[in-house]
Amino acid sequence: MKLVGNFPIQSLVLLAGALFPLALAGPPISANPAPPPPSVNPAQPSAIRPSAVQPPKASQPPPPPAAKPVPPKAKKHNDNKYFHEPGMGDRLSHYDERYFKGEVAYEQHRVNLQLLIRSYLTVFKSLGIETFLAHGTLLGWWWNGKIMPWDYDLDVQVSNETMAYMAANYNRTKHEYEYVDEKTGAKGHKTFLLDVNPHSLDPDRGDGQNVIDARWIDMENGMFVDITGLAERDKQRNPGLWSCKNYHRYRTKDLYPMRETEYEGVPALVPYSFEKILIEEYGPKSLVMTEWKDHAWKPELKEWVQIPEAVLNGSVSREQAGF
Ligand SMILES: *[C@@H]1O[C@H](CO)[C@@H](O)[C@H](O)[C@H]1NC(C)=O
Ligand SMILES: *[C@@H]1O[C@H](CO)[C@@H](O)[C@H](O)[C@H]1NC(C)=O
Ligand SMILES: *[C@@H]1O[C@H](CO)[C@@H](O)[C@H](O)[C@H]1NC(C)=O
Repeated sequence: MKLVGNFPIQSLVLLAGALFPLALAGPPISANPAPPPPSVNPAQPSAIRPSAVQPPKASQPPPPPAAKPVPPKAKKHNDNKYFHEPGMGDRLSHYDERYFKGEVAYEQHRVNLQLLIRSYLTVFKSLGIETFLAHGTLLGWWWNGKIMPWDYDLDVQVSNETMAYMAANYNRTKHEYEYVDEKTGAKGHKTFLLDVNPHSLDPDRGDGQNVIDARWIDMENGMFVDITGLAERDKQRNPGLWSCKNYHRYRTKDLYPMRETEYEGVPALVPYSFEKILIEEYGPKSLVMTEWKDHAWKPELKEWVQIPEAVLNGSVSREQAGF
């Protein structure tokens, strides 16, 4: 494997299976085993400190020739926004306008989100680009290493140095991904576009229309992974304080060293203090509550299961239905 980015080489040892199954029967918090150890040998801490994360050297090979610019099919817009969606709200705001061909049905949604995040994590790892899970994607990982069934989007982060590297080397590149359909066993193939917002390195939020710095887009249906960059935006007054343009803040020691784990069955990185980060963003209840958005956590399955309509409307009791 070629390592061209700033992925810490030492951390490539995969802790597959060490972390999952995460939650056993019983109260959710105590049910989770001790957090996985930091991914990197503590004897070599400098290798993974952000300060050691170097921008790529000039001598590094250029990106593969397969990376060809994609002609944009975008409509004309009279705004400053780079990424456009076909509409607002939960149902339409999670597609890229250029590749949107209609809403993906609920049953197809999960599968498509899985393919998005698996392809993204796999390709980024093979390119040696360091990226880590964030927001609801990180919360889903905490519960069972999977996308939460009510989630419509996927969120990952990179450092601003990595973002600059992506902008310089991989903007508008296409990436092929082969997969096997879990249900039918049939082989499938998809193409993803990595598109980097020219505002990705802006120092601040600006007019608020470009808080998403890059996207990994399924060119078949327009679904995407949102990629945002973290930077120490005010190094003078607040050293060690990282933030995205949308004001989510993190301390260096809570981010690094990243922990190695798996998400949806493929290698992934999560920030060092993932619980602290989740509690700050979603509150302590997010790690305890076992019912959310008409889904219930089933400890014995380690899955969030949709609560049947008849249970929700009270015509069947919870005991009868096993909820
Ligand atoms: C990525 O490429 C598109 C199309 O050429 C361009 O409009 C955009 O500004 C580029 N992004 C960056 C970060 O340069
Ligand atoms: C990343 O942000 C830091 C400030 O946190 C800045 O010093 C550095 O120049 C930025 N790097 C790039 C490549 O933009
Ligand atoms: C509750 O939901 C079930 C299943 O959808 C339906 O058959 C039943 O008529 C509903 N009952 C009420 C009182 O709404």
